[in-house]
Amino acid sequence: MCGIVGYVGDRKIEEVLIEGLRRLEYRGYDSCGLALNGEKSGIYRKRALGRIDNLARAIEGHTPSDKRSGIAHTRWATHGEPSEDNSHPHCDCSCEIVVVHNGIIENYSSLKDELEKKGHKFSSQTDTEVIAHLVEEKLKEISRGAGIKHALPEPLFFEAFRRAVNLLSGSFAVSALWVKAPELIMSARMHSPLTVGMGEGENFLASDVSAFLKYTKKVYFMDDGEIAAIRRNSAEFYDFKGKKNNKQPSIINWDLSMAEKGGYRHFMLKEIHEQALSAQNTMAGRLLPFEEKRIFSEIGLDFNEAARIKELQIIACGTAFHAGLVGKYVFERLGIRAAADLASEFESRAALLDRGTLVIAVSQSGETADTLHAVKAAKRNGNKVLAVTNTLGSSITREADYTLYTHCGPEIGVASTKAFLGQLIAFYMLAVNFSHARGITDPQKAEQLCRQLLLIPDLIEKTMALENKIEKLTEAFSSKEHYLFIGRDLSYPIALEGALKIKEISYVHAEGYAAGEMKHGPIAIIEKGMPVLSLALSSQSLDLIKGNIEEAKARGADIIAVVDEESKKTVKARHYLEVPQINELFSGALAVIPLQLFAYYIALQRKCDIDKPRNLAKSVTVR
Ligand code: G6P
Repeated sequence: MCGIVGYVGDRKIEEVLIEGLRRLEYRGYDSCGLALNGEKSGIYRKRALGRIDNLARAIEGHTPSDKRSGIAHTRWATHGEPSEDNSHPHCDCSCEIVVVHNGIIENYSSLKDELEKKGHKFSSQTDTEVIAHLVEEKLKEISRGAGIKHALPEPLFFEAFRRAVNLLSGSFAVSALWVKAPELIMSARMHSPLTVGMGEGENFLASDVSAFLKYTKKVYFMDDGEIAAIRRNSAEFYDFKGKKNNKQPSIINWDLSMAEKGGYRHFMLKEIHEQALSAQNTMAGRLLPFEEKRIFSEIGLDFNEAARIKELQIIACGTAFHAGLVGKYVFERLGIRAAADLASEFESRAALLDRGTLVIAVSQSGETADTLHAVKAAKRNGNKVLAVTNTLGSSITREADYTLYTHCGPEIGVASTKAFLGQLIAFYMLAVNFSHARGITDPQKAEQLCRQLLLIPDLIEKTMALENKIEKLTEAFSSKEHYLFIGRDLSYPIALEGALKIKEISYVHAEGYAAGEMKHGPIAIIEKGMPVLSLALSSQSLDLIKGNIEEAKARGADIIAVVDEESKKTVKARHYLEVPQINELFSGALAVIPLQLFAYYIALQRKCDIDKPRNLAKSVTVR
């Protein structure tokens, strides 16, 4: 949550920053701001409530001409309501130091008390502002001779910043400018992502590489407990004690068009349409010819060790949790016991895990705070962790023992779609491979399952043919305020995901239920005309779900059934959304698509802000 951008170089700094902010707007968008450091003019700071356009308008024609560096921020409020005063950058008493921050400073109130006693005046309700005042205090302390004597502004700023961040606890990615060092951006990272992009005679920094991908693909991923000193011609990294770190840059293989809308009205729609391709990318080179060690050597897990794993614990949040639930069902169908838990509910229970249990942490961003904490708890208990993520170099990959990337490309829409699909495919592949490693699925069967998996991209394309029908259908439903989504067994998590999608972007009440639970409560809320989206695919539990559909119909529900050719013959519904026939094990990858489209078009009819739904952020980096 919250996005940081920084730049030092010869381009029009405010343009680079504004453009970067637009790309990071998915991280938070209740307010934004920027600060520029001018050679003679000093600090120029501007903040605005609401979207980036408001900021762009506010600075037009007003920025100083002698600017050398700049930092900017888009905010998702944690401490203090969204307001101009609470927007970043924040500054010290005389606005000579400006700071942007992502995360939470847990000890900010005690730091603030101490600083106030020393005479510092605060002008916001945020935790971030203490950082600016702390740097100010440390500058004074060093200059008074209480520490090392530094004559030059840059080493002085470095040391003051270093001392200040050492006093912070919590999670933070923070960047700062000091008026006297106009070509230096100081940054630090602790449990919140920050990346540095290397250009020629210019350097960039951002919470996420998409902000500067247009200019460079050469990236340093900062580590926790690391400080960066970023100048026009160099980026140097240090630990919090001031010892230099030697880092190797990574090269990003995404191109910019992957992070743009490409003619679609919304990122979400573009990403729904990209699912066939991204499913293909998730599977590329991993399935055929079936080789028992292939996926394990890619993730760095010894095959014999994999063969010994009897039980899995899946942890994740939000949509990734729903993918994890699908994973649980698929693993269990293939003979391996698996549990799936919400990462936010897991930390205190990690100590009960059997050491031999492999923990699978699923996270598109690789930065979700609760998932990270759950991973750390599992590691403390001595468990090995496999991360399933879409984001190269993300925090979760550093904590995990093994990583399987989903290779879906950047996902910008806050409501996750193609990343969910990539996570499903990752689970399908892992389940086949682990089951084979344990000797439960024989090589012929494993190869046959891999062949079926490879059909998925084509079948997704065919499923997309439902789009027009769904768009029309939603015209009749867009005024409804309550929806039920029901499914059983492998389709149950898909019902949960369908309900989550529509809640996230349409702000209507929706519940996903295991259909067998209907009679234990939810059936009471059904009244005439209530839409009940029912997952009724060919499966072991089709007869049972048909019974549940009849019960809902008898109470006036308007049934929209997701069916396949076979099941459609016997399911009685008012509306059918027919997806291609596929092995039941993998049916979620197709069944979720009509539900994503349904949520999208309902939100469109209701004129909601689809890519930036209210109160939500794509990456939830606070707990
Ligand atoms: C937020 C996003 C969801 C996402 C969840 C977990 O709530 O809005 O789309 O599923 O975080 O994110 P992760 O990056 O860990 O998959």
